[in-house]
Amino acid sequence: MTNEPIVTRIAGGLPAEFVWGAATASYQIEGAFDEDGRGPSIWDAFARTPGKTWNGENGDIAADHFHRYREDVALMARLGLTAYRFSVAWPRVVPSGSGPVNPRGLAFYDRLVDELLAAGIDPWLTLYHWDLPQPLQDAGGWPNRDTALRFVDYAEHVVTALGDRVRHWSTLNEPWCSAFEGHLTGRHAPGVRDVRAAVRSVHHLLLAHGLGTAMLRTHGAGDVGVTLNLIPAEPPPAGDGGTTGPDSGVGGGAEDAVRLVDGQQIRLWLDPVLRGVYPSDVIADFARAGAELPVRDGDLALIAAPVDWIGVNYYAPHLVAPGPDPNPAPTPFAGADAMTRVETTDDVTALGWPVRPASFLRLLRRLGADHPGVPFYIHENGAAYDDEVAADGTVHDPLRLRYLAEHLDVVRQASEEGVDVRGYFVWSLLDNYEWAEGYRMRFGVVHVDFDTLVRTPKSSGLWYSRLIGEHRAGS
Ligand code: NOJ
Repeated sequence: MTNEPIVTRIAGGLPAEFVWGAATASYQIEGAFDEDGRGPSIWDAFARTPGKTWNGENGDIAADHFHRYREDVALMARLGLTAYRFSVAWPRVVPSGSGPVNPRGLAFYDRLVDELLAAGIDPWLTLYHWDLPQPLQDAGGWPNRDTALRFVDYAEHVVTALGDRVRHWSTLNEPWCSAFEGHLTGRHAPGVRDVRAAVRSVHHLLLAHGLGTAMLRTHGAGDVGVTLNLIPAEPPPAGDGGTTGPDSGVGGGAEDAVRLVDGQQIRLWLDPVLRGVYPSDVIADFARAGAELPVRDGDLALIAAPVDWIGVNYYAPHLVAPGPDPNPAPTPFAGADAMTRVETTDDVTALGWPVRPASFLRLLRRLGADHPGVPFYIHENGAAYDDEVAADGTVHDPLRLRYLAEHLDVVRQASEEGVDVRGYFVWSLLDNYEWAEGYRMRFGVVHVDFDTLVRTPKSSGLWYSRLIGEHRAGS
């Protein structure tokens, strides 16, 4: 791919005030798992359970960002980022999950925010990116309603300490993963496999979002939202599953599978947050699986507390097809036994995720059409590839560069068509701990040598930096 025409097209096609960022998450980069009073989280426990993560790897050291945050902020400034999305570790701030605050834990984020502001980088703070304090898990975790209330207490400590300097607040990151990967497939912490626990978690996560949003408002927070992985469900391309594409009127089984995945990935979250209702077909799917959302009177009004935007995480579509299920899908509910992930002829990333910018464009158009008046930020987008460090120390990652260019061009196109998309955060700033996949899956635009912890911008990072520079110069 020749890069320069696409740089110019993207830079020229996005609004002047477009936000350019990179994203990370506490457990994936910080390390320092037992420093300054941090308590254990469900990921510390899960990663220490044999067989749960690649090679038994954990986030004890990760990218050592806790000690290297100054260097990392300098790197962001060098890349020209205008914004940085990070998460606060609940077990640093309230080590027991509930009860006393740990000032030394909060102090880290205080230092980080000051460093960002001094570098002219706007902090975007996520309150929950999956590291639930283990004592709260011992008390029942997300299936337990009380966890939502404890979340609000914890979040209040954070906004009290940082609300004078942090303007942008995301309550939760990808609650779908917390609920379903954490409590149905068991691929993520806490590793539970129980459909009832998963569905209870859905509601309590949403309740935490709604209550948290209301609490943030009382502290004057003016820019609040939630970050969702809105994975579009699509039939496989022709030849892979006997269908001919998403708009081709596929037959019964695939149609139902698409509806089911769409319900659980997209409508289950957007409908209650933006409209104050749960989708009735998803409630029926849950009921068929013997599970129920534990809704109390008034909860839906709380969950629908007005938000300023929705954060969208997009990587790949979920390809579904009727037929026996060789690879169990992430949400195998009763009635969904026709659903499957299928092999695809598309390009795939190192994780096997199909590269389909066209699916991203369809998603953005749909979001714009279904939710007029709602601003969207792309809070994560990126790709894992096996990077190699060249003899001269440079890291060339043409496949990631191409992925980013194609997906950013989609953002440009959607924006030109009138979708209100206001910013883009690449996942991720740094190579990091990719959860159950450990350190082998690299998403960074900056390479991290996990032996020496040396950081090296990859060609994708340098390209992204050039793009930001061109956009800023023209605006
Ligand atoms: C979404 C998650 O928010 C992030 O933590 C993860 O590393 C990326 N997806 C890539 O899988």
